[in-house]
Amino acid sequence: MPFELKLLSGNSNYPLAEKISRYLGVPLTNADVSRFQDGEVSIKINENIRGTDLFIIQSTQAPAENLVELLVMLDAARRASARRITAVIPYFGYARQDRKDQPRVPISAKLMANLITTAGANRVLTMDLHASQIQGFFDIPLDHLYSAPIFLKCFAQMELSDLVVVAPDPGGVHMARAYAKRLGASLAFIDKRRPDKDRAEVMHIVGKVKGKTVIIQDDIINTGETLTKGAAAIKDRGAKEVYACCTHPVLSRGAVERVEESPISRLLVTDTIPLRKGINSKKIEVASISDLLGEAIKRIHQEESVSSLFY
Ligand code: R5P
Repeated sequence: MPFELKLLSGNSNYPLAEKISRYLGVPLTNADVSRFQDGEVSIKINENIRGTDLFIIQSTQAPAENLVELLVMLDAARRASARRITAVIPYFGYARQDRKDQPRVPISAKLMANLITTAGANRVLTMDLHASQIQGFFDIPLDHLYSAPIFLKCFAQMELSDLVVVAPDPGGVHMARAYAKRLGASLAFIDKRRPDKDRAEVMHIVGKVKGKTVIIQDDIINTGETLTKGAAAIKDRGAKEVYACCTHPVLSRGAVERVEESPISRLLVTDTIPLRKGINSKKIEVASISDLLGEAIKRIHQEESVSSLFY
């Protein structure tokens, strides 16, 4: 008989934690995840968690408060003698600086891995990391899920034909190829340059898009520059229609407007990050990853395989 499964959530994505809780039929652990008057994070777990298999659900999108909440919850859980603590991080923030490709830059993804481990995580469950080598930044077990099965199901229901899947940069070709294979589509990619950290320019499109229905697949939409400029270039080259899917809807200021004004017909995202209040776009649709995460939590708890959830 495995030890008791418990769920704890911070404030970064409470609606997702509630959905996972419903899927598993396990209530969220009673806790105060609040602030002291000066703004510092204050945590108090209000029930006994000694000896439990505890899953702490917290995405770490900006602001850094979300990360601090996760670290402080981990510390509280470790000191309260949870037997095993899994950090469930649907969106793993600070992942974009994942190698030292210029002088005087950090490897922030490695720093995050160190902080999360030091704070008390025994394992990590996450999804569509910005770069899969980040898995190796952790010296604790890490389960890495993909949103692909969810998006592929949505696209299959749309019954699109004459498809080509486009990777928004050469780094995305591997995943785009997996989509293309599953959808019976051809493959293309964008040669993208970044003149500045929050700007993107399309240099070339490698592959045939003329007369095709295009799906651009990416992990993150932040400013929306990558996706919308890519979509415009693809449309200029004669594509019939452009769809897009991005796992993590960071959607910083101006991104939704860019999507609205772009030739993208529909943009599918997941709920690893909640959409900011006030976002109201007919083009953006949210497909929930709650059941996938819930199932993965159940299997980790029951020591069963997680890899069959990849397809
Ligand atoms: C590559 O850098 C990533 O996969 C995304 O393409 C990028 O984070 C998207 O950023 P933005 O929306 O700001 O162009």
